[in-house]
Amino acid sequence: MTARAREAILYGGTGQAKVVRAILEPQGIRVVAVVDDTAELAPPFDDVPLLLGLDGLRSWISRRDAGALGFCVAIGPPHGLIRVKIADELTALGLTELSAVHPSSVIDPSARIGRGFQAMAGAIVQPHAVIGRQCIVNTRASVDHECVLADGCDIGPAATLCGEVTVGRGAWIAAGATVLPRLTIGERAVVGAGSLVRARVEAHTTVVGVPASVLHRDRRLLK
Ligand SMILES: CC(C)(COP(=O)(O)OP(=O)(O)OC[C@H]1O[C@@H](n2cnc3c(N)ncnc32)[C@H](O)[C@@H]1OP(=O)(O)O)[C@@H](O)C(=O)NCCC(=O)NCCS
Repeated sequence: MTARAREAILYGGTGQAKVVRAILEPQGIRVVAVVDDTAELAPPFDDVPLLLGLDGLRSWISRRDAGALGFCVAIGPPHGLIRVKIADELTALGLTELSAVHPSSVIDPSARIGRGFQAMAGAIVQPHAVIGRQCIVNTRASVDHECVLADGCDIGPAATLCGEVTVGRGAWIAAGATVLPRLTIGERAVVGAGSLVRARVEAHTTVVGVPASVLHRDRRLLK
């Protein structure tokens, strides 16, 4: 992107859209439309049109300069990989993938951050962390030194990843969970709210509790 877009659309019209808008607009990026796939969804904002799905967006955008528009995919867990897919579709329409980084978050300059990153209030990303595309580090969550997050990860509010943790594609570390150092969380795994992870979590596995134990294996709740 050469010039940062001053107008953006949000894909996803629920709570995440409200949080993302509250980050973008004080930074001078106006939200001009919200898109959602749910026909009966109540509009999240009185002053912004709600469009139905990609078709609704395509028809709205045909009357505009898509190249001047940015986007954020405002869809929370467990849909991290859907964020990546939608980001591909919106990029193909000519829109620019934006990040939404709250000014109170602390992102170390040595961290490598992928496109479409969302860091909510108080989020922390420590030195030499590597964060993939379309990841969310939610309110007061922390990602410590040298953690590696693949694409489409969600780190929930107040969750803690100690140093050198590896998180696979589309995995979700839910609110207040803690992952001890150097562990691996597999692709599309879920760590339940408040859990303490002391051992590797396999792909497609949900763990809960202190210490965390397996609740479901291979339940493909993340499409
Ligand atoms: C892990 C989670 C996804 C599991 O959801 P689920 O598969 O629908 O599980 P259920 O609600 O059916 O619960 C199944 C069992 O696990 C237990 N359980 C569920 N989540 C738990 C958790 N986080 N910690 C401890 N036990 C948990 C339930 O009490 C239930 O136990 P029981 O069978 O003895 O009654 C969910 O409970 C969770 O933690 N969600 C995180 C929410 C969150 O952080 N939201 C923030 C969004 S930004």
